Amino acid sequence: MMWVWARGCLRGFALIALLALAATLSSAQSLDSDYPSRGAILAAKKLGSIDPSSRHTLKHKQIENVLGFVTPWNPQGYDLVEKYRGKFTAVCPVWYQLKTDGDELQRYKIHGGPPKEKDAEWYQRLRESTVDESNGQVLDPVKVLPRIALEGWTTGDFQTLLNSSLEGIAFTEAITAEVVLRGYDGLMLETGAIWALREPLRLLSQRLHEETKELLVVLPPLREDTPQENQVLLQAVREMADFVDGFQVMTYDYHGPSGAPFKPGRPMPQDSPLSRDGVRTFGPNAPLSWIERNVEGFGSQLDDATPQSVFGSSVSGGAPLEKILVGLPLYGYQYALGWLNDEGAAQLITPPSSPTSLKDAIAEEQLKSRLRAEQREETRGLHPILTQAGSPISLADVRETLNGTKALVRRDEASKENFIDFIKAREDGETFTRPDGSVVPVAWYRRAYFASHGTQRARLELVERLGVGGVALWEVGQGEEWVLDAL
Ligand SMILES: *[C@@H]1O[C@H](CO)[C@@H](O)[C@H](O)[C@H]1NC(C)=O
Ligand SMILES: *[C@@H]1O[C@H](CO)[C@@H](O)[C@H](O)[C@H]1NC(C)=O
Repeated sequence: MMWVWARGCLRGFALIALLALAATLSSAQSLDSDYPSRGAILAAKKLGSIDPSSRHTLKHKQIENVLGFVTPWNPQGYDLVEKYRGKFTAVCPVWYQLKTDGDELQRYKIHGGPPKEKDAEWYQRLRESTVDESNGQVLDPVKVLPRIALEGWTTGDFQTLLNSSLEGIAFTEAITAEVVLRGYDGLMLETGAIWALREPLRLLSQRLHEETKELLVVLPPLREDTPQENQVLLQAVREMADFVDGFQVMTYDYHGPSGAPFKPGRPMPQDSPLSRDGVRTFGPNAPLSWIERNVEGFGSQLDDATPQSVFGSSVSGGAPLEKILVGLPLYGYQYALGWLNDEGAAQLITPPSSPTSLKDAIAEEQLKSRLRAEQREETRGLHPILTQAGSPISLADVRETLNGTKALVRRDEASKENFIDFIKAREDGETFTRPDGSVVPVAWYRRAYFASHGTQRARLELVERLGVGGVALWEVGQGEEWVLDAL
């Protein structure tokens, strides 16, 4: 059994090598290739790498809606959306909370708004059509649908809201007033209990539709290990599909901070710590197969399919596909890893590095480096195990890391996410004293997954093929121009 598995594994490696070869031969190491080189990523900003004539043109014509989230904590997102506004149909600034700390007359109270006057001017500019000065192209208005998150709500608060339609009306008025006053095109409502709010949301949507405003809601993704939650969610989506204008599915954080369960490729010795439950390793942020299964789960094509084909749920029929916006992350994850042998003993290893800068742009050199890295991993036979919770990483962080290290850009073939390995000091600043008395920081081996131009292209092609309503990017400020260019 074990031998068969190992052989399958080797065949896997050979296949990966072939795929890698095919990919490199067709496109060198440029930013839009499957393996953008370290040098190309470092130069991306400097060169203003993007062809200005395509800045406002969506490459994926079948995708009808592109929504970009923007947040005050990554404010470069505001400029990026505007610079590429022709690719966006909507923006969702993350500006609002709805709390239940109002007064006796109105318990539901909106908090937040455009943080600065210039943010208000920004969204007003987006709502009006304009002309690209460079070529006379007319740029349509971009819808502004801010996110309103229910914050600090207790179970009692939800019970009160659901208790009477008067409460539902008060809830509706608090939200609608802000949307109308500010002249937004609608809003995106987010709460972990969205499935419970059918009736208040029905009222809210009726009221918003009277004002020709839209109601979108955020949905958690379907997951293999939560069949009951999936069931409840799908049932709710099915009912809400009649009146909600769009569902934004958060298909990211698939592994999240806790990483993926470690599955040894061969039996571990019984007393090895690696044979215990709960051992974790790294994993991609948004596997393509998982995105696809979410669309199948939430989408209406299940009407004709055998129920329970997706995620162990037996509800068939969800939302019409055109109401689904697939969430695409622009950020990645980094994981601190220890490389352990079968007995669980850690071995110190050096991350694979990029070819020297002279050879960095040469496809064959890159391929050689990647193959060497894979061969070394295979020969060592060590297991990469999480030593700390993973954390999100933006493209700017990735670039900074590439600047400070010689990390080699590789790719996970299934998710099409790129990754780099590098050594970096621990965040807590812990140090150790060497025998010679010098004090040095404790550093960790890390692996960071990120979404490159090629990753986004693969995701967008999938979304296009699935025929859903569009995509929602979380979030524009964590991306960079060379990746937005994939849109
Ligand atoms: C790389 O780091 C140096 C030194 O901190 C900095 O001056 C330079 O701008 C960085 N380059 C990029 C592409 O980030
Ligand atoms: C529900 O409404 C009734 C009156 O309609 C009220 O007496 C009761 O306290 C309310 N319950 C909650 C949880 O708000």
